[in-house]
Amino acid sequence: MSQFIAPPSETNGYLRVRCNGGLNQQRSAICNAVVAARIMNATLVLPELDTNSFWRDESGFPGIYDVAHFLKTLKNDIHIVTSLPKIMSKGKTKKLKAHQIRPPRDAPLSWYTTFALEEMKKYEAIYLTPFSHRLAEDIDDPELQRLRCRVNYHALRFKPHIMKISNEIVNKLQSEGHFMSIHLRFEMDMLAFAGCIDIFTPEEQEILIKYREQNFAEKKLVYRERRLIGKCPLTPEEVGLILRAIGFTNSTRIYLASGEIFGGDRFMSPFRAMFPCLDNHSSVGPEKLEENDRGLAGSAVDYMVCLMSDIFMPTYDGPSNFANNLMGHRLYYGFRTTVTPNRKALAPIFMDREEGHVTGFDDRVRQVMFNAHFGGPHKRIHPESFYTNSWPECFCHMNPKNPADKCPSDDAHEVLDGQLQNEEIEDADLNTTKNIESTTQTEETMI
Ligand SMILES: *[C@@H]1O[C@H](CO)[C@@H](O)[C@H](O)[C@H]1NC(C)=O
Ligand SMILES: *[C@@H]1O[C@H](CO)[C@@H](O)[C@H](O)[C@H]1NC(C)=O
Ligand SMILES: *[C@@H]1O[C@H](CO)[C@@H](O)[C@H](O)[C@H]1NC(C)=O
Ligand SMILES: *[C@@H]1O[C@H](CO)[C@@H](O)[C@H](O)[C@H]1NC(C)=O
Repeated sequence: MSQFIAPPSETNGYLRVRCNGGLNQQRSAICNAVVAARIMNATLVLPELDTNSFWRDESGFPGIYDVAHFLKTLKNDIHIVTSLPKIMSKGKTKKLKAHQIRPPRDAPLSWYTTFALEEMKKYEAIYLTPFSHRLAEDIDDPELQRLRCRVNYHALRFKPHIMKISNEIVNKLQSEGHFMSIHLRFEMDMLAFAGCIDIFTPEEQEILIKYREQNFAEKKLVYRERRLIGKCPLTPEEVGLILRAIGFTNSTRIYLASGEIFGGDRFMSPFRAMFPCLDNHSSVGPEKLEENDRGLAGSAVDYMVCLMSDIFMPTYDGPSNFANNLMGHRLYYGFRTTVTPNRKALAPIFMDREEGHVTGFDDRVRQVMFNAHFGGPHKRIHPESFYTNSWPECFCHMNPKNPADKCPSDDAHEVLDGQLQNEEIEDADLNTTKNIESTTQTEETMI
C-alpha cells in the first residue's frame, strides 16, 4: 500500500471551477478539479455544474451527488469547502471574488503549478471556466491517476433518491433473470455531430443539417466514408442484428439507456421485432422521473442501471462520455462484461448485406465481435482514454516493480469483494445518508 500524504494545512488559495457538458463530461471534470487542487495545495470549492448546456439541469452538484460522502471520501486528499469564504473589506463583509481564467485544453500539470498557482497566490481565489478537458489525461504519476479513480469510482456517489430508483429498477429487472443494458446513442445531437444523414428523410436531414450548422464546426462529411471509418452511430436495427448474430435470442431482457431516438419508430420497430423484452427508465421506473428525464437525474439513473447490468453494450463510444465512463467504471468494478462493437470492421459487412449478400453475414459479424476483450483487463493504447480504461494504474499488482503498486493482502479478491460488498451495503443503506442532505446546501457562488 502506498503512502499518500495528507494535504498540508496551509492553503495556497481557493480553486473554483465550472464544469460543462453532459453528466459524464462533468464527471471527469470533477476528477480533474480534485487533482488540480491537490497539486496546487489549494482548497477546492465544490465544483459547479453547467446549467446551460443541452441538458438544461438546474440541480447542480448537490442536486445530483451526495456532498457529504464526497467530502468524507476525499478528506485525506484535499480540502474542500462548499462556497467561497466571506471577507472583510472597507468595514463590510462580502464574498471573496475569484479571478476568472480560461484554462488551455488538456493543460499539463505544470500549467497548474506555475501560471495558475501564481494567479491564485495573487488573487487568493481563481475561477477556471470552462472546465471540461482542461487537464491532460496522461499524467506520469500513478498516485495522481489513482486519485482520479478515487474521485470517479468512490467519492462521486449519486444522491440517495437516485440510488434508490436505480436499485428498484435493477431489482425489478433482475427478478426475471439476467439483463443487458444498451446505451443506444441514436439521438439527434449525436447524429448531427457524426454527419451520417443519408438514411433519413429530406425533412429529417434538414433538421440534422441545421443543428450541425448551429453547433459544430463546418466540415464536409460523406456518409459512405464516415461509415467506413466507423464514425456513424449504429442504427437500432444494426445493434439487433449484431446481438442476434452472437447468439442472443428474443427472450433477452434489454434495458435501453437512451434519449429520444431520432426518426422514431421507423428505426425502433425492427429492433423491437428482434428483442421484444425491452425496457427503459420510463417503463420500469417510477413515474416522477419522466418529467425530468432529459435532465441529469434521468441520465444518472441510466448510468447506475447500466453499471449494474449483467452485460453492457455501448453503440457509440468514442465521443460519448456516458459510454466511455461506464466502460471505465465497469472495468474498475471487476471487469464486468462489456460488448463493444468495432463499427469500422462491421461497416463493410452491413454494406454487403444491404446490397443483398446475406449468406455468411452472421459468421462475419461473429468473427469481428469475438475478436474483442469484452471488458477484461487490457493495456490502454492511445487514443483510448484513461476514463475508459484505468488499467493498470488503478489496480494493484501481485508482483509489482514498485512497492506502491502491491496488492493489500495475499488474497486480493477476498479483500476487493469485501470492499465491494461494503459499498453496496452502504449504498443500500439509504436511511443513514438522508439526514445529511440539509447541511450541504451551497450558496450561490456565481460572479
Ligand atoms: C504542497 O505541499 C507539499 C507538502 O506540504 C509540498 O511538498 C509541495 O511543494 C507543495 N506544493 C505547492 C505547489 O505548494
Ligand atoms: C421468440 O421466437 C420464437 C420462435 O423462434 C417464438 O415462438 C416466440 O413466440 C418468440 N417470443 C417472443 C416473446 O416474441
Ligand atoms: C420507453 O418505453 C416506453 C414504453 O415502452 C415508450 O413509450 C417510450 O417511448 C420509451 N422511451 C424512450 C426514450 O425510448
Ligand atoms: C429506514 O427508515 C424507515 C422509515 O423511516 C424504517 O421503517 C426502516 O426500518 C429503516 N430501515 C433501516 C434499515 O433502518
